[in-house]
Amino acid sequence: MPVYILGIESSCDDTAAAVIANDVILSNIAANQDIHASYGGVVPELASRAHQQNIIPVIHTALQRANIGKNQLSAVAYTRGPGLLGSLLVGASFSKAFSMGLGIPLIEVNHLQAHILAHFIRNENRSNPVPSFPFLCLTVSGGHTQIVIVKDHFDMHIIGQTIDDAAGETFDKAAKIMGLPYPGGPEVDKLAKEGDQSRFSFSKPIIPGLDFSFSGLKTSILYFLRDRLKEDENFIEKNKADLCASIQHTILDILLSKLEKAAQETGIPEIAIAGGVSANSGLRSRLEALKYSKGWKVYIPPLAYTTDNAAMIAVTGYFKFLNKDFANQSDAPYARSAF
Ligand code: KG4
Ligand code: ZN
Repeated sequence: MPVYILGIESSCDDTAAAVIANDVILSNIAANQDIHASYGGVVPELASRAHQQNIIPVIHTALQRANIGKNQLSAVAYTRGPGLLGSLLVGASFSKAFSMGLGIPLIEVNHLQAHILAHFIRNENRSNPVPSFPFLCLTVSGGHTQIVIVKDHFDMHIIGQTIDDAAGETFDKAAKIMGLPYPGGPEVDKLAKEGDQSRFSFSKPIIPGLDFSFSGLKTSILYFLRDRLKEDENFIEKNKADLCASIQHTILDILLSKLEKAAQETGIPEIAIAGGVSANSGLRSRLEALKYSKGWKVYIPPLAYTTDNAAMIAVTGYFKFLNKDFANQSDAPYARSAF
């Protein structure tokens, strides 16, 4: 009998549930919260209210699609943090009640570890390659930018991270300045495909070691556009694609130069990317190219496992279940953390 785990993710603005049989996903459901688009960003109070409304139907659908009754579940795994506290509380409270009601173990999951462990989800015939230890993972999301050495499923060390803004935040802020809808990352990605990446250049930070900084780039985009708009109020409209391509190119240069440095310093040629920004088509194709030029083994997650999802929580839950690493009812969600 396989281990069936229900994974629940509610750290930000996606209410998500997935069912896994060992390391193979049976269902992966998410309800996105459109309400935030009109505010140009996630409004925490509205996010937790929407989680309250979505959580039961989303879990119901996940179980139904997996064709699994709740009494067949071996455990329930939930995102404990980091994230928005009000959002996390909804998933945590539901999971605690559900595990207690069913008399099955509760498993708490770190959202950032889960983004990385999504690489260990197997397809139906288990033919997809998974990274071997140790590997390097560039985790790039709306709230985090990290280079992690992954020595084992739960033996991870951050060797570089942003000292200010995250890469996803930079995509989103640049998009907002250009008047693009939220979330900006996918919009910039789409427009960048038709643009000239060498048309505009933006300054890149000089940060020692493997750390990143994006706040200077954000400011330089802001000032650049402010000055150009003084000369031509339609400047953004006329140059949207070239602006997106140039901004995306700069962000990717910053990310990839540190990833190359990390690979060189550690001598680790197994390279993975994870998190929402790993959905970026430019990042994915540049990494594919580095596979050949650097002789790396590269792991790029399927799009469904890049942005926030519950499949990654379920697979992390599976590995914790094997370790009998169970949580307590008294564990409180946390807004910030390393691992
Ligand atoms: O991992 P994620 O879904 O949530 C967090 O844990 O933060 O990441 C969301 C971030 C957002 O900043 C979003 O704009 C960005 O990922 N993102 C992208 C793309 N798709 C999502 N950024 C660039 N290109 C994309 N295609
Ligand atoms: Zn995330």
